[in-house]
Amino acid sequence: MSRYFENELIEQIKDANDIVSVVSEHVALKKKGKNYWGCCPFHNEKTPSFSVAPDKGFYYCFGCHASGNAIKFLMELEGITFVEALERLANRANIPLPEAKLSPQVKAREERRKKLYEACELAASFFHNCLVKTSIGKPGLDYLKQRGLTTETIEKFKLGFAPDAWDRLYKSFTERGIEESILLELNLIRKNDKGQVYDFFRNRIMFPIMDGKGRVVAFGGRVMDDSTPKYLNSPESQIFEKGKLLFAFDKAYKTIREKKQAILVEGYMDVISAHNVGLTNVVASLGTAYTRDHGHVLMRQAEEIILAYDMDGAGRQAATRAIELLQNTDFKVRVLAMPDGKDPDDYIRNHGPVAFERLVTDAVKPLDYLLSESLIKHDTNIPEGKQAVLEEVFPFIGNIQNQTVRDDALKALALPLWLDNSTIYRYFRNYTKRGNIEIVNEAVPTVNTTANGDEDMLVALAINDSQVLEEVVKYLPLEDFQNISYRGIIEKIYTLFTDTGNIQGESIAEVLTPEEYEVYTRLMMFEVNEAVPVLIRKIRLHSLREQYKAHSIMADQLKRAGDSAFISELHKCQEIQSLIREWSK
Ligand code: UTP
Ligand code: MN
Repeated sequence: MSRYFENELIEQIKDANDIVSVVSEHVALKKKGKNYWGCCPFHNEKTPSFSVAPDKGFYYCFGCHASGNAIKFLMELEGITFVEALERLANRANIPLPEAKLSPQVKAREERRKKLYEACELAASFFHNCLVKTSIGKPGLDYLKQRGLTTETIEKFKLGFAPDAWDRLYKSFTERGIEESILLELNLIRKNDKGQVYDFFRNRIMFPIMDGKGRVVAFGGRVMDDSTPKYLNSPESQIFEKGKLLFAFDKAYKTIREKKQAILVEGYMDVISAHNVGLTNVVASLGTAYTRDHGHVLMRQAEEIILAYDMDGAGRQAATRAIELLQNTDFKVRVLAMPDGKDPDDYIRNHGPVAFERLVTDAVKPLDYLLSESLIKHDTNIPEGKQAVLEEVFPFIGNIQNQTVRDDALKALALPLWLDNSTIYRYFRNYTKRGNIEIVNEAVPTVNTTANGDEDMLVALAINDSQVLEEVVKYLPLEDFQNISYRGIIEKIYTLFTDTGNIQGESIAEVLTPEEYEVYTRLMMFEVNEAVPVLIRKIRLHSLREQYKAHSIMADQLKRAGDSAFISELHKCQEIQSLIREWSK
């Protein structure tokens, strides 16, 4: 809306509103010296770094650097426009605002918008009255009660019912003098080829969709049985932009701000079910995926977004897409998994709000989520499976801008995939250079720089002494070597030894790959004074602990995903634990 006000008037309105009193309505302030101090409403903090200078009319936060005057304060805090903030302050100071100077076109458009809002509001009341005040709405009311909604919730969301008739709304609205074109634009009515007019929503539960200010702008209508389409929705209009609107944001934003956290779900019923039991920081994007504009709505309200999407294919896809869009934004993101039940509404009704809040607490970081999704799908015992997992998580990791975070993400792959860090880095470099991952037969490892000194020492001893070599083979499964080139070296030299009785000589260069041979010669330079049994035990225990970690992570992830295979993972954990006990003796 392009309304124009004289600078003088703006200054007059600002002068009439003492910034300390404006801010005080939202933030507890204490005077210290010339200025006032409080906890910043724009970021989460416990010690005050938000200061207000009454003489200058400005605020400044030393923590998040938010700053501005009283108008900006209201704009940012409430997510309103300049004009709206100005109106607010003018009202506060009892200063009348002059009629805006609008061009005729703008004026006409504004009037039309006003009519659209009014018609929506009226339609919401019409549907709501049908639901709660008439016998026509009884099936709808029964349906909602049977889904566990309280009367308060039905009122709060102004749920409604569209009568099972062709033109009830149309007739009632035209009688009230509401223009047909308005109803057509809102798609509340439709016209067929013969010019007959009929109501768009019939025999459906009605969910009014409100914008951030609580104005009704559209509807979703649900059938009460299994017929399709399950939901009919208003199309976009002058007052309804799907991608910019979060369902129930008007009811949730206070709690979102308090908790600094928004829970994003997929469906109308998920939101309503959550609010129904007092979980009031829950919102939904409407049948569309999460968009960057949704992020703008949530910005400055939430620090963290919890994705609580359905556990079906579409929900998982939507979660992945949302993770992508939320990457490298200021939001912290976690993904929630429902162990059973296909959506939050089911889960909340079966287990209650406390259990759901526990899921929120347990929600995992995006990479953990993507990785567990991927690990469940692919068999990581085979190279192709590992490759598939890497292909699925590399796009995410490749987009991480912070190098330390990216490195940590890459390292996190080592354990569940049984690859060492250098191999993962190599794959990752291939991926970023060429956009693909070459399948590499793991029996042909490349040079590894190992961080594990115990392994270096033990292998150095084993390649010099056949007794040590035999002990190593006897007690250590090859997989215990985190450095996988050591697996190849030990295996090949031991084969050579059983075949020829020798562990040294020219044939070494023939059985080892050039890369392994390089590692081998490097190890030959080592001087080791450590006792073999000590090294074996340390390496064995280290490996067992890593395995334990991997299986317990896997068990946890499977359990979250509702896969009963988690039980066998737990059994493995127990077995490993008893091995650890034995080796620790
Ligand atoms: P769901 O099919 O998960 O529905 O679609 P729901 O929200 O769980 O509803 P109930 O529990 O079956 O009553 C999720 C969202 O996708 C949109 C709606 O916004 C719905 O809430 N949707 C779904 C449609 O717009 N049209 C459809 O036909 C289905
Ligand atoms: Mn549902």
